[in-house]
Amino acid sequence: MQVLGIDIGGSGIKGAVVDVTTGELISERLRIPTPQPATPEAVAATVAEICDQLHWHGLVGCGFPAAIQHGIARTAANVDDSWLGANVQKIFCDATHLPCYVGNDADVAGLAEMQFGAGKELDGLVFMVTIGTGLGTALFNNGELVANTELGHLFDSKGREWEHRASDAARKRDELDWKYWGKRFNKYLVTLEQLFWPDAFILGGGASKKFDKFADAIDVAATVTPAESLNQAGIIGAAILASQSHQSLDMTLLPG
Ligand code: BGC
Repeated sequence: MQVLGIDIGGSGIKGAVVDVTTGELISERLRIPTPQPATPEAVAATVAEICDQLHWHGLVGCGFPAAIQHGIARTAANVDDSWLGANVQKIFCDATHLPCYVGNDADVAGLAEMQFGAGKELDGLVFMVTIGTGLGTALFNNGELVANTELGHLFDSKGREWEHRASDAARKRDELDWKYWGKRFNKYLVTLEQLFWPDAFILGGGASKKFDKFADAIDVAATVTPAESLNQAGIIGAAILASQSHQSLDMTLLPG
């Protein structure tokens, strides 16, 4: 089955057609800069533009950097405030005239890693943590996604939001070297560990490409591995989400 996967980020909107049985990209990978301001109308027009440029007329999956409950954005930490309460799924369906499914960006990246990447052999409780502009989390219990965990917004002991301290944006803002930032990020993993006792962490997002630069600072009981599909996890996972959601929808339409 082929699905167009779209990864919506703060600086770029990326898309490619994905074979969801193999996890491979089967079209070129397009990237269009995220319009500024990134209002629902402007972002929806870019999503439609990606469908047009790829001559796509099938199922579309999108990863979006907010908690997405039944298609609706419930948070807007790193996106324009006008998204709060917006039905992202409906907005994209209307703009593209195609069936679209939307999920949280970290959740969909986790789906890709669990199926085709670093998580494919992992059972038990697995956390995917995406380290980028924001700090995204996705929780899997024996391969099953527990959606919208939003644990980048946990507070540290001094009442500071972890996303503002341990994201890649925070590393750049505070001009931290990898070792120093790594120690800080490790404290975040320890916080998650003491609350959830996961078996494994998979690290995704921009900073995970530099894992070798901070691996020595990581000291938790769970195994810690960088994501395998790196740049593509958001696209592949968005496609997986759409194929899964569409199939379960079809099941409910079956007679009897
Ligand atoms: C958002 C999450 C998102 C994460 C990574 C956070 O600010 O609240 O929904 O997954 O950033 O983009």
